[in-house]
Amino acid sequence: MLKFKTSSSSLLRSSRLLSPLSRLHSSSSSQTGSAKADTKHHVGELTDFIEKWTPDVFRNVGVGLAASSAAAAVVVGPVTGLSMAALTALYWKVGLDDMNQNASTIRRNFPFLGNLRFILESIRPEIRQYFIESDKDGAPFDRQHRTIVYQRAKEASDLLPFGTRRDVYEENYEFAAHSMWPTVATVEKSRVMIGGPDCKKPYSSSILNVSGMSYGALSENAVLALSSAAKMGNFYHNTGEGGMSRFHLEGGGDLVWNVGTGYFGCGTGTLKRVFDDKMFADNAQRDNCKMIELKLSQGAKPSHGGMLPKAKISPAIAEARGLKYPPEGDCNSPASHSAFDSPEGMMHFIAKLRELSGGKPVGFKLCLGRPEEFAALVKAMLSTGITPDFVTVDGAEGGTGAAPPEFSNSVGMPMAEGLTLVHGILIGAGLRDRVKVIAAGKVLTGFSVIRTLAMGADVCNSARAMLFALGCIQSHKCNTNTCPTGITTQDPRLMKGLHVPSKAERVKNYQEKTVHVALEITGALGYDTPEKISGKDVLRRIRNHGLRDFNEIYPWITTPSGALKNNTARKEFQAIWDGKGAHDHLMWENA
Ligand SMILES: Cc1cc2nc3c(=O)[nH]c(=O)nc-3n(C[C@H](O)[C@H](O)[C@H](O)COP(=O)(O)O)c2cc1C
Ligand code: SF4
Repeated sequence: MLKFKTSSSSLLRSSRLLSPLSRLHSSSSSQTGSAKADTKHHVGELTDFIEKWTPDVFRNVGVGLAASSAAAAVVVGPVTGLSMAALTALYWKVGLDDMNQNASTIRRNFPFLGNLRFILESIRPEIRQYFIESDKDGAPFDRQHRTIVYQRAKEASDLLPFGTRRDVYEENYEFAAHSMWPTVATVEKSRVMIGGPDCKKPYSSSILNVSGMSYGALSENAVLALSSAAKMGNFYHNTGEGGMSRFHLEGGGDLVWNVGTGYFGCGTGTLKRVFDDKMFADNAQRDNCKMIELKLSQGAKPSHGGMLPKAKISPAIAEARGLKYPPEGDCNSPASHSAFDSPEGMMHFIAKLRELSGGKPVGFKLCLGRPEEFAALVKAMLSTGITPDFVTVDGAEGGTGAAPPEFSNSVGMPMAEGLTLVHGILIGAGLRDRVKVIAAGKVLTGFSVIRTLAMGADVCNSARAMLFALGCIQSHKCNTNTCPTGITTQDPRLMKGLHVPSKAERVKNYQEKTVHVALEITGALGYDTPEKISGKDVLRRIRNHGLRDFNEIYPWITTPSGALKNNTARKEFQAIWDGKGAHDHLMWENA
């Protein structure tokens, strides 16, 4: 059995750095809503008694009801017997219809009783309005934002009547500063070409794509649906670190192969995983594989290897990852890569991946911890002359299938600071025109795409919004193999409920509509392409300071090209480049 050891090496920031940053954590007001503590019974959870209601239980109860009707006809009389028989027939009809329909996973998995969820859901707004919660409740995504995804996925109207329900004068309120001279931005013009000078096969990317989630964290039906959606909608689907499975390939969408420390699909070994050139080349050269993303870390568990709980390791997953079945324990990947151990070594490894892939774009994904360590990577780009084709920045607010709560809650930099620093350092090194920047971290609405581009991204990835489009009800059971919507489970009974063609259509609809709205905002800003969006286009209300645009809040994104290299950048920013750390609080106080 393959069982990787994880390192518990801590990356906790110094409190000096964390405290100003944590002030900014609430800045993504477009998404976060009220960050309430995790509660057991949150919005959208299925009650336990419905979850125990399997199709077998449904059938047994139905047989019992039929027998009781017959007994009642004999013992009580024909009228009672007939009435009970009619109710029993109705019970069977509803339940069998539920099992045979494709639109709802919950009804397929929990016939008859699953309808309770929808009945309760239909009266939920009233109950909530009079007794319980606001639209801003629900974490990590509030009801308002989830509803937008559900509506767009189902092609229902997402129009808001009567004006905004937000308090536009509250702290951290953000808005796009539109132009008096709006124009039209088209999807064609919004595509972003990824691939620097050393790349032979550049890739034309959408501005919104499916972020990495592995087969293992996700079910095969979920992977198939996402990949099929990517094909229909002409966007990419990142595989996540569990390897490029046959379900990714079967869907036919453009794939970004996320290569983590476990080297699944491109490595061998048990206790220590070793990268294998031939295995990598064979997979990377597949037509579907459009780009390769070397994963250093992700926001929900930075510098902590991937975690796949034993309960979720099915024979098919074991096969895809090269694990023994049945598993002896959880499949935990190491915290760090064995293929390189220095910034220069990493650049040479990137060059090797590009060559082995036949010249496809190769980049890396990270959640930023220490900015000076990223600066060291960029210096290695200059000293080796090897640049990645893209850098993906994940925020600490990012999602995961499973992670230690301390890592999710208290390690790593949120997207806003991580993204703006990566963008600024690449500009300061004079390399920004060679390296595209992709960002993820609660990107869900058209506006959240725009604000992410305004912070410096070229392209956005989204993981959990895509899961909502697949039918996720935010029940927080992704690590238990009991996901009621068949998305993050390997239980065939639950997975079967996820009808691939209809869910793929929904993901496609959601992505398409959200990009459409993002482009409408782009046009409202007066630009014909999102490429022209910059930090001055989005403003935030800051207590005692009025309104500030992103250029003022994150001044390092206005660094002149090459200024860090030439030692002419703003003092506090230059200190990062010079390896003196990012602890000069002046820098953060500007934010
Ligand atoms: C279920 C799940 C599994 C994930 N698995 C991976 C993974 O294998 N590799 C990776 O780089 N990121 C992984 N992520 C992180 C996402 O790719 C993304 O960076 C993060 O969730 C932020 O995006 P979001 O806020 O839109 O969810 C996973 C996220 C989720 C929700
Ligand atoms: S993916 Fe499944 S288990 Fe995870 S939050 Fe969504 S519905 Fe719940």
